[in-house]
Amino acid sequence: MTATKGLEGIVATTSSISSIIDGVLTYRGYNIDDLAVHASFEEVIYLLWYGRFPVQSELDQLLRDLSESAAIPSELVEQMRLYPTGTNTMAALRSAVSALALYDETANEMSSEANFRKAIKLQAQLPTIVATLSRLRAGLEPIAPKSGVSIAHNFLYMLNGEEPSELAVKALNQALVLHADHELNASTFAARVTVATLSDIYSGVTSAIGALKGPLHGGANEAVMVMLEEIGSFDRVEDYVQTKLDNKEKIMGFGHRVYKGGDPRAKHLQKMSQDLSQLQGNTELYDMSVRIEEMVTGQKGLKPNVDFYSASVYTILGIQRELFTPIFAISRVSGWTAHILEQYENNRLIRPRAEYTGLTNQKYIPIQNR
Ligand code: COA
Repeated sequence: MTATKGLEGIVATTSSISSIIDGVLTYRGYNIDDLAVHASFEEVIYLLWYGRFPVQSELDQLLRDLSESAAIPSELVEQMRLYPTGTNTMAALRSAVSALALYDETANEMSSEANFRKAIKLQAQLPTIVATLSRLRAGLEPIAPKSGVSIAHNFLYMLNGEEPSELAVKALNQALVLHADHELNASTFAARVTVATLSDIYSGVTSAIGALKGPLHGGANEAVMVMLEEIGSFDRVEDYVQTKLDNKEKIMGFGHRVYKGGDPRAKHLQKMSQDLSQLQGNTELYDMSVRIEEMVTGQKGLKPNVDFYSASVYTILGIQRELFTPIFAISRVSGWTAHILEQYENNRLIRPRAEYTGLTNQKYIPIQNR
């Protein structure tokens, strides 16, 4: 038995949800480039869950279901008030989503209908949890979700307590579409491994949030912003990046396990970053990002991934960096739940093997003789 480090190139399951073929990302066969420009996030959720686009009445029903499920249990809000201030937002999100199961008496029901209902709840409640966490951290009271608006709109409303601009809703909607699913990425794999034991959907999503938190996965968007803040201004980019490259340190937001010719999502986020910063009349963050890209791509051949330009996009939208990875989760929970439902439909325990590299033929030595 020979191990493949990081399971690179290993095909671990079949799936009909999303594909990366020759550097092209599709959801259910639809090119992400098409979806990023035309689709609402809610249409994409439906597409991922049901395998086809909804007709208007089906979309309206999904919007109603999401609206009706968006409020979170008051007991959970009380728990969240007790979380230490300054705690990592993804750690808090992971705890809150795990706790959600405690307030759902159907948490362990395994029928397909029950799991679809729980997928709707999770999709509807993650934005409410993230907005609530953010407000509690700022010493503000949570704002209840409103009905009849999109997830992007509702999230920004619950975050800031005021109606968001159309532009902000449009930008966030597009970011949510772009992050919704991504074949067998680390967090989706974690979700599938967890539910393949026939554990419940909340456990699967909690595992996925834990995996997404890491800086090599979803945590990279926050790490990009930390880097931009450390650099501080355009004239400092050159020295900062060159020192990192000379020291062989990783530059967050670059590189990808699967895409070697570039992440197809990055160009949409770059354009969004450019457009928003021009509209705002301050292009410094965008200009810094472009210069970093020129240096990293020029010297290492590495291209930006989905996380690189999302950092400047969210910052221009007035979102704090602690929320960047949780926003990724708000989107990716659509993909996680689609994969969990698919796993349940055709389940087999996921239990690979390890190539043993430890000592052999050891004999027990009594403690007084060691
Ligand atoms: N900055 C600098 N060098 C990088 C790099 C980066 N962001 N990403 C990869 N490399 C280099 C590695 O140092 C390694 O060089 P070496 O062969 O000289 O040791 C080589 O490229 C291969 O990298 P490796 O980490 O083995 O690739 P991987 O497929 O295991 O990892 C990522 C993929 C995404 C984890 C990796 O590119 C990375 O850490 N990127 C930064 C984090 C990030 O943006 N994550 C979000 C992904 S969407």
